[in-house]
Amino acid sequence: MRRRNSLVLFVAALAALVAAGAATAANGGFTPPAPHSPNASRIGDAYWFVFAFCAFIFVVVEVTLVVFIVRFRHRGRGREVEGPQIRGHTRLELAWTAGPALILAIIAAFTFYELPGIKNAPAATGANRLTVRVEGHQFYWQFVYPGGQVSIDRMVVPVGKVVHLTIVSPDVAHSWWVPALGGKTDAIPGQTNHTFFVADKPGVYEGRCAEFCGIQHAEMQAEVAAVSAAQFDSFLASHAAGSRTVGNETVVGACAKCHGFQGQGLVGPAIAGNSLLNDTRGLTALLRAGRPPTRTPFGMPAVGKTWSQAQLDATIAALKRTYGKGTGGG
Ligand code: CUA
Repeated sequence: MRRRNSLVLFVAALAALVAAGAATAANGGFTPPAPHSPNASRIGDAYWFVFAFCAFIFVVVEVTLVVFIVRFRHRGRGREVEGPQIRGHTRLELAWTAGPALILAIIAAFTFYELPGIKNAPAATGANRLTVRVEGHQFYWQFVYPGGQVSIDRMVVPVGKVVHLTIVSPDVAHSWWVPALGGKTDAIPGQTNHTFFVADKPGVYEGRCAEFCGIQHAEMQAEVAAVSAAQFDSFLASHAAGSRTVGNETVVGACAKCHGFQGQGLVGPAIAGNSLLNDTRGLTALLRAGRPPTRTPFGMPAVGKTWSQAQLDATIAALKRTYGKGTGGG
């Protein structure tokens, strides 16, 4: 009877675990998304390897706990009755010391085996290699391509190419994180960090800033779109730093998140119809240097600190186009 109880409990626990596996297979939110880059897939391997040991230990501990609760319940015995006096069990004690040590050694060995493929990009030269500069800004991501092209919050890369990222920040610490394409890499002022990915199939991979960096941190979402070589070429052709497209992207990514998409004001003041739109010099100074938190509760970050003159001009033109109606700004 007791043996059957334990068996039933064990089977129930296993079934619960299998059901949990099925629930998370659809990625209920606490397992990593399906990897689409070699480094991400090694991170995923390490996750599942460690998870297997955790699941095993969880089942052993919980099943034993429940079995003991049932099996050694008091059954009407008086509270003052002493249980059997048990001395140590050398072999059992050795086992529960050596077992965990062995498990930790196995996990460490596996992690060190996976690590080089997580840290080191596959060798690639010439046409098979692309370097993109990633700038974390309060509160947007700016991507700069080898030909000086720019995009905001959405990086576009050719599928299958080894993409090296040079990650910097001109203001505060941010963290670059696109889970399907690898681990987190911090964007730290005064330092240049490196990471890489190789998108294995076309698609859009979502990411976000993973370091609290200020009032609009939650707005620092990023997207990596992996496209065909032809689509990548046409993307580059349309994203010259001084283009209308980049001007518009910059306004949406760098200005509207704080000033409202209609320029109506949000955590920053309204810019729609603002007289500063007619003052190109004043606007340039503000975009380049920001404003300390005196007139508004949060001030304004120096959003345009790293922009080329071409991007600055395109952005000012886009600001006037978008928000300058009725103020004489064209
Ligand atoms: Cu940038 Cu959080």
